[in-house]
Amino acid sequence: MKRAVEILKKIIFGHVGICILLLCVLPLVFISHGLYRGIEIEQSPADSEMEDLIVVGFSQLGSESGWRTAHTRSIQEALTKDAGYFLIYNNARQTQENQIKTIRSFISQRVDYIVFAPVIESGWDTVLQEAKDAGIPVIVIDRMVDVKDESLYTTWIGTDAREEGKKAGIWLEQYLRKRNRQSENINIVVLQGTIGSTAQIGRTEGFEEIAERHENWYILESASADFTATKGKEVMREMLHRYPSIDVLVSQNDDMTMGAIEAMQEAGVSFGERGKVTVLSFDAIRDALEMVDEGLINVDIECNPVQGIYVDSIIKKLENGEPVEKSYIVEENIFTKENVAEFLDSRTY
Ligand code: AHR
Repeated sequence: MKRAVEILKKIIFGHVGICILLLCVLPLVFISHGLYRGIEIEQSPADSEMEDLIVVGFSQLGSESGWRTAHTRSIQEALTKDAGYFLIYNNARQTQENQIKTIRSFISQRVDYIVFAPVIESGWDTVLQEAKDAGIPVIVIDRMVDVKDESLYTTWIGTDAREEGKKAGIWLEQYLRKRNRQSENINIVVLQGTIGSTAQIGRTEGFEEIAERHENWYILESASADFTATKGKEVMREMLHRYPSIDVLVSQNDDMTMGAIEAMQEAGVSFGERGKVTVLSFDAIRDALEMVDEGLINVDIECNPVQGIYVDSIIKKLENGEPVEKSYIVEENIFTKENVAEFLDSRTY
């Protein structure tokens, strides 16, 4: 009997213990993985906090790259309380579904403006129509949206991705000519960003436009590595196995380039100024510019993440009833070993 009571106690207290543990631990696990409420709205304004402030819902597509971190910071530093804003920020972790949920939540919170960086171009018509019906102006930043009705958004601020791709192609033309290699067969591999995003579409089309002029340029493969270093390394490692003679790597952002460089180092393949594989990268974040300076990356085509000041000035214009343009393109540069040193000191991201 005594033994039976002991066993019964163990079962009851054991289960209660486990239940208590699960009740305490599970919510923490869900919250830390952003699953608790499906999406994570990191701030929710109380009415008193919003008085006299312009409430902006900012849906950022993710945190996949160093560039993205700088882009998010640029918005957060421009839309501060001191500047007259209450900013509600959400990170969609590279999924369109999360962004749509977030925008819907901004609409139901009746924010004054929606600012969003779309992960891909298509699939926004319905949710943007909902924002328009609610009378909330939408400012699209960084990447573009491809919508049937352009009145669904107020303005777009970003970079010219197609032009960036062309710049890379033109730089390669000139580089090969300078080295008297313009008639050689040139084997190229391309690491693309997220398929369907403006940066991937534009940089691919722009580079291909120049590549088409050269019968001796062979694009062996273009494959997506989703703008991340981890995937950049993985995809480049596979390409190095498949193609023993790669002359040029075109990598559509610096994070993928850094991953690819690790793959080349591990495979014993030389690259950069003194190596076999010429490396073309995009973004021009500080860490990559240092690699340009060291001769590890041959050229970095800038994609300018400093877009917050534009968002602030556009919102202020709209608040004053002034007209705004339909699109704004931010300025960009090209960095090589020849000019990079003069920009390194002032690079903050
Ligand atoms: O849309 C801009 C691109 O997105 C940047 O090149 C890249 O780093 C980011 O992830």
